[in-house]
Amino acid sequence: MKYLILSDIHSNREALGSVLSFVRRKPWDKAVCLGDVVGYGANPNQAVDMLRRLRPLAAVRGNHDKVCSGLEEGELFNRIALEAAMWTRRKLTKTNSRWLRVLPQGPVEVDGRFAICHGTPIDEDAYIFGEIEALNVFRHTEYPICFFGHSHFPVIFALSPDAITTILTVAPSFRFKLREGVRYLVNPGSVGQPRDGNPLASFALFDSTSRVVTIHRIPYQIEATQEKILKAGLPRPLADRLSIGR
Ligand SMILES: [Fe+2]
Repeated sequence: MKYLILSDIHSNREALGSVLSFVRRKPWDKAVCLGDVVGYGANPNQAVDMLRRLRPLAAVRGNHDKVCSGLEEGELFNRIALEAAMWTRRKLTKTNSRWLRVLPQGPVEVDGRFAICHGTPIDEDAYIFGEIEALNVFRHTEYPICFFGHSHFPVIFALSPDAITTILTVAPSFRFKLREGVRYLVNPGSVGQPRDGNPLASFALFDSTSRVVTIHRIPYQIEATQEKILKAGLPRPLADRLSIGR
C-alpha cells in the first residue's frame, strides 16, 4: 500500500496544488493528513475542499484547525497567528468549519501499519524539535512507526536498541528505507509553510510493502501565494516567510 502523507497545508492552495500535480505521476493508494489544513494562508476553503476531494483515509486535527473552527480561542497563539486564525474563522464555510471541527485528536492508527498525530502522540499541541523530545515520545509510546507534523520541519528520528539517530533530509527527493526492529518518528515537513530554510513544499510518500519513505520537495508559485496573502489583508510576515522557508 502506498500512502500520501500531507501535513501543515495551512490554506496554501498553490503548494497543495503543485504537490497533487506531482503525485499524479506517482501512484498512491490512500491519503492521510497530519493536521493544520488551515491557518496563515489566504485560501482556507480551497485547501479544505482539495483535501476532502482526496477522501483521506485518516486525518487528525491541528492546533490551527481547532482555533479556526472555533473549538479553541487561541490563547497561546502569537498575535500574527491569532489574527490569521480569526480571519480564517470568518472565511470558512459552515460545511468546511464543521469538517475541521470533527477531525479527531491524534494519535490515530492507520491500517494497523503506522500511527499519525499532529504534534506528538502524547500531546497533540506539543512539538518534537530534536532528539530529547523524540526520545521522550519513544519512551512513552509503543508505535513502531509514527508520522507527525506541527514543527514544519522534515526529519526522521530512529530509535534502535542502543541509540537514537536524527536523519535530516536535504535532497529534493529523499528516499529512506525503514529497518525492521528500529522505531521511527517521521515528519514529512509542511506542504504550505516550510520552516527548514527551504521554501519548497514538503510532503511524503510511504510504501508500506517496501517500507520506503520518500520526502519530496516541490516548487510552487510562491509569489502568487504571497500576493494573495497581502491582498487578503493578512499580516505581511506570513507572506514574507514563504520565500525563505522560515
Ligand atoms: Fe502548523
